Amino acid sequence: MASAKSWSLALVLLCISLSYLVNAAGDNNGSIGASFIFGDSLVDAGNNNYLQTLSKANIPPNGIDFKASGGNPTGRYTNGRTIGDIIGEELGVPNYAVPYLAPNSTGKAILYGVNYASGGGGIMNATGRIFVNRLGLDIQIDFFNNTRKQFDQLLGPSKAKDYITRRSIFSVTIGANDFLNNYLLPVLSIATRISESPDAFIDDMINNLRNQLTRLYQLDARKFVLGNVGPIGCVPYQKTINQLNENECVDLANKLATQYNVRLKDLQTELTGKLPGATFVYANVYDLVMELITNYEKYGFTTASKACCGNGGQFAGIIPCGPTSSMCQDRDKHVFWDPYHPSEAANLIIARQLLYGSTRYISPVNLKQLRSL
Ligand SMILES: *[C@@H]1O[C@H](CO)[C@@H](O)[C@H](O)[C@H]1NC(C)=O
Ligand SMILES: *[C@@H]1O[C@H](CO)[C@@H](O)[C@H](O)[C@H]1NC(C)=O
Ligand SMILES: *[C@@H]1O[C@H](CO)[C@@H](O)[C@H](O)[C@H]1NC(C)=O
Ligand SMILES: *[C@@H]1O[C@H](CO)[C@@H](O)[C@H](O)[C@H]1NC(C)=O
Repeated sequence: MASAKSWSLALVLLCISLSYLVNAAGDNNGSIGASFIFGDSLVDAGNNNYLQTLSKANIPPNGIDFKASGGNPTGRYTNGRTIGDIIGEELGVPNYAVPYLAPNSTGKAILYGVNYASGGGGIMNATGRIFVNRLGLDIQIDFFNNTRKQFDQLLGPSKAKDYITRRSIFSVTIGANDFLNNYLLPVLSIATRISESPDAFIDDMINNLRNQLTRLYQLDARKFVLGNVGPIGCVPYQKTINQLNENECVDLANKLATQYNVRLKDLQTELTGKLPGATFVYANVYDLVMELITNYEKYGFTTASKACCGNGGQFAGIIPCGPTSSMCQDRDKHVFWDPYHPSEAANLIIARQLLYGSTRYISPVNLKQLRSL
C-alpha cells in the first residue's frame, strides 16, 4: 500500500517536473516565443566565425562592452549588443538567438530562436563575393528549412506549426551590402553598372526578396519585420573615401537606398494582400538612423561622422576595427562603432524605437504589439 502511495507521489512529482521542463523550454502561453533573425553584419551574432571569410568580427576590440562574453569578441560587428540582441532581451527571451552555424544551435536552445545573419550577406547571391564567403539570404532560408524540421521533431508537427506561426517573429535586416558590396563596388562592378540601371538592379533585388519571403511563409512564418536600408551614404567609410565634410553624405548611395526603400514598402503592401494571415511590419531604419546622425547631440552623442574604432582618413573610416586600430575612449558618445556599424549606444536607441515607437519608424504595429498579435 505504502509503495503504491509513494509511486503515485513520485508520478505527481515527475509530472510537475516534466511540465516545468516543458515550460522552461519556452512553451509558456506564448509570452515568450522565438526570434528568427535573418540579415547581414548589422545583426550577425557569430555565424561568420565558422566561415572561411574576409568579413570577420571575432577580433578585439569588437565586443568590448558585450557583458555576456565578459568583453570578448563574439563575432558581433559592434562594441556591445546588436539590435537583434536588444529586441530579444526586451521581449523577455532568456538567451540571445544562437547563431545557426554555432555548435550549440541544437536541441532546446533553438526554441528561443536562431540567428542566420552573416556579415557581407545580401539579397542577391553575388553580393559580398569580395569576402570570399558569407551567407546570402537564399542560403539563410535553406538553413531555416532545416531548423523548421528540427521543430517538428522537438515539439511534434502540430505544436511546432502553432509555435512558428503564432509565437515566432521573423526579422529580415538586409540590402545594404547589395549596394555597398555589389552594385557600388569600385572597379569590380563598373561593368554591372553600365549594363544594369539602378532601377533594373533594384527590380532584381525586390523580385528575389519576394520569393525569399514567400518561401519563409511556406515554412509557416507569419510575423515578419522588414528592415529597410539605412543611410549608407553617411557611414564613415563612404564619407572617408569620398573625402566629404563632417555634415555631408554620399548622394548616390543614399539615393539608391531611398529608391529601394520605396519599393520595399510597396512589397510590404503587396505581400500583406497576397499572403493570408501574415503581418509584415516595416522598420524604417533609414529615417531612424538619419535622425540620430542629424540630431546626434540631442541623443547624447558627440560625433556622428567619426568611427570609434578604425583607421584612415578624417573619420577613421578606411580600415575595419581590429587589434591595431585606434579606439575612442567614450564609446557611448559615438553613433558609429566602426567604419560601417552603429555603436551599442545607437543600437539601443534604434531598438527601443522599433519595440515601442510610433508609426513614424515602425508600421503598422511596433514589435511589442507584433509579439502579442
Ligand atoms: C499563462 O497564462 C495564465 C492564465 O492566462 C497566467 O496566469 C500565467 O501567468 C501565464 N504564464 C506566463 C508564464 O505568462
Ligand atoms: C552558445 O555558445 C555561445 C558561444 O560559446 C555562448 O555565448 C552562448 O551563450 C551559447 N548559447 C546557448 C543558448 O547555449
Ligand atoms: C543562390 O544560391 C543558392 C545556393 O547556391 C541557390 O539555391 C539559389 O537558386 C541561388 N539563387 C539565385 C537567384 O540564383
Ligand atoms: C524545404 O526542404 C524540402 C526538402 O527537405 C524541400 O522539398 C522544400 O521545397 C523546402 N522548402 C522551401 C520553402 O525551401
